[in-house]
Order: sequence, then structure tokens, then C-alpha cells
Amino acid sequence: MGKVQGLKCPKCMKGYAVEIKEPRCQECHYVLEVELELGGLEGKGADLFLHRKDRSIWRWREFFPIEKEGAIVTLGEGGTPLLPAERLGREVGGAELYLKNDTLLPTGSLKDRSNAVGISRAVEEGHDVVAVASTGNAAASVAAYAARAGLQSVVFVPEATAREKVVQAASYGARIIGVRADYDETARLYGQALKAFGWYNCLSSNPFRNEGKKSYAYEIWADLDGRVPDWIIHPTAGGTGPTACWKGFKELHRLGWVERLPRIVVAQAAACAPIAQAFQAGRDEIWPVEPQETIAESIKVGSPSTMAWRALRAAQESGGTAVALSEEEIARSQVLLATEAGIFAEPAGAISLGAAIRLFQDGSIEPGHLVVAVITGHGLKQPPTQITLPDAIPATLASVEKALRADAR
Ligand SMILES: Cc1ncc(COP(=O)(O)O)c(C=O)c1O
Repeated sequence: MGKVQGLKCPKCMKGYAVEIKEPRCQECHYVLEVELELGGLEGKGADLFLHRKDRSIWRWREFFPIEKEGAIVTLGEGGTPLLPAERLGREVGGAELYLKNDTLLPTGSLKDRSNAVGISRAVEEGHDVVAVASTGNAAASVAAYAARAGLQSVVFVPEATAREKVVQAASYGARIIGVRADYDETARLYGQALKAFGWYNCLSSNPFRNEGKKSYAYEIWADLDGRVPDWIIHPTAGGTGPTACWKGFKELHRLGWVERLPRIVVAQAAACAPIAQAFQAGRDEIWPVEPQETIAESIKVGSPSTMAWRALRAAQESGGTAVALSEEEIARSQVLLATEAGIFAEPAGAISLGAAIRLFQDGSIEPGHLVVAVITGHGLKQPPTQITLPDAIPATLASVEKALRADAR
């Protein structure tokens, strides 16, 4: 199991004890980062992990901040397919493109990687009630893991959240707090409620829960037989995905299991792209933006927490980039994924493919580059509204022929 050494401010590097009540730097107010003791793993070597039968994220349990095996709360998350996408590879100029299909996680989104670890930590610390503010996917995920652990969950969602996601969270037994506001305002209210009621926080301002997404790095590395992608592209709002991919690969590098590191790409919707704007302007700080309408609802976060700064840093330090995609590019990615790769993703979850296409068009991705696009949310969570279905036909073969003829027109 993972041993926590302490917490550290990612900005000024000041160290803190694990027991600190609010895991923020007292000087720069940045969300702290977990420091794990990985020293013992050097001697053990990579084979220990590669030969484990467990294909869930817990195959990598020494990399997560959970000390007691009995505290682990799992729904079998992780081990999602890394699919070669030869036909889509043509869209990216002959690059070797892989799709990491996280729509297949237990609740249908990337959030299960972090919440499996977050809720396990809540169990380890003895909490009864866990909570989150969410654009929908984290709400469903926290609710599912809380149900699995026998804990109560409270989830705050903006009023406009896709009904499918809220129904999913409610089905797991969550207390739903729908707020007549956008996500940023909802998250502000959630912050006040968290202080008032003392729930366990499952947002990205909880450094322990963020560690779960490092499992991307380990799984991608193992599935590529030790090859390191030239690019890893991640749909981004709060920034946990890119941050955790970067941290995970840096750990593998420190252990001597990889010789180089991937470039990390933050993919956002142009309608709400605070991290991409900071990157393009060469800024070291993220300024909040007023979100505009976007079909990528799940990543519509205009004022991300200071965690997002680490995603910006990951893109900068790794030689990667941050891109802001138009609504047309996002919609096209969703269609291409479904029709050319057989993956039905929600728009926010498909945006990484659009980013790959953009980076090929601007000359960043070159033929032969190894590219991984992470697909982060299932299409059933926010089904397309533009698709019209044909009327039902009478149950006769003649009607089938007629329908087929009409379709061919
Ligand atoms: C489908 C999907 N992809 C990506 C993200 C971005 O995750 P993060 O907030 O960790 O950047 C979210 C966040 O809600 C999401 O629901």
C-alpha cells in the first residue's frame, strides 16, 4: 500500500504534515500535492506490477495514498482499453493514434479513477458523509462509490446539468442539491456548505483523491509495453487529468522504468478555456473567464481551483500545449469517434480527438508520432440532441424495403 511522506505546495514547495486540516498552502493558497514514499519500489522493479492479475487501478496500489488494504473501495475501475485507431490515424496524418476508452469505467466517466481513491481515503479516515460539486460526472461517481462504501453522499450540481447524470447520482442514493447557478457559483456555495457541515471533500481541492488519476500513466505505459507516447491529450476543466498523467510519468521516470516523458496536452472548449488562454498568452497564472455556451458541458468551468495551475505547468514543463476547440471541432470529434472508432462519447469526453486533429493540422503532431487521446465520458450521459430517429414501420418486409429506399435517397 502507498505510504504518504507529507504534503507539499506545488508552487513554493513548502512542506506540510498530512494531518493539516485544510490542504492548502498557508502562504500561496495553492492546493497541496501528496508526496509518496516510492523508495521501496526501486528495488522491487516494474515486473511486480506488470505480472499482477488485478487489472483495476489497484494493481498500482503502492502509488496511491491508502495505507490499509481493508479501506479500499472498488467497483473494478481502471484497466480500460487502449485501442489503436488506424482509421482515425489518417485524420492525424499517419500518426500512431490510440484511444484510452474511459467511457467504460464503472459510472461511465474518468471520475471513477479519482473517486475510488478519494472515497477509500474517506473510509480510512473514518468519515460518514462525502460531498462534491460537479458538472454531473463527479456527482454520479462520488454517489456510486459512497453507496459501495455504505456512506452518505451529497452532490451539488448546477440546474442545467444533463438530467441523465443527475438521475444516475440520485439512483445511487445521493442527496442532490441542484443550484440555480452555473458551475462556478455552485462550487462557491459548495465550499461554504463544506465548511458549515464538515463533509469529506471529493473535489480536486482534495490532494489525496487526485492521486487516483495517475493510474492513466501506469496503464498507458504497461499497455504500450514500456513505450512512452509523444503526446497524451486530456479533456480538461479542473485540471486533474493532465496533472496526474504528468505526475505518474514522472514517478515512472524517477524509478528508472521510462527513459523519457510524454508531452502533455490540455484540451478545452474555446467557449470556456481559462487554462488554454493562459498557455497561449505565456502566462504563469490562470485568470477566470466567463463561460459561454458549449456542448462540452462537463468541462464548462470558468474559475477552476488552483489545481488547474498544475495542469498549465504540466503542459509547459513537458513541452506540450493547451488547445481551445470550437463547437464544430468538438461536435465533429464526437461523430468521428462513434462512426470511425465505435466509441460513443459525450462531447467533453471526445474533445481530445479534436485536439489531436488540430495539432496535426498546425504541424505539432507529425507522421509516426505516438499519440494517446483520452476519451473521458460516455455518450449516454449526454446524448446528442441533433439526431432525429425515423418513424417506426409496420412489421412487413415491404416496409423494410421502403424504409431502406427512403434512406438511400
Ligand atoms: C467527461 C469529462 N472529461 C473531462 C473532465 C475534466 O476533468 P478535470 O476537472 O479533472 O479537469 C470532466 C470533468 O467533469 C468530465 O466530466
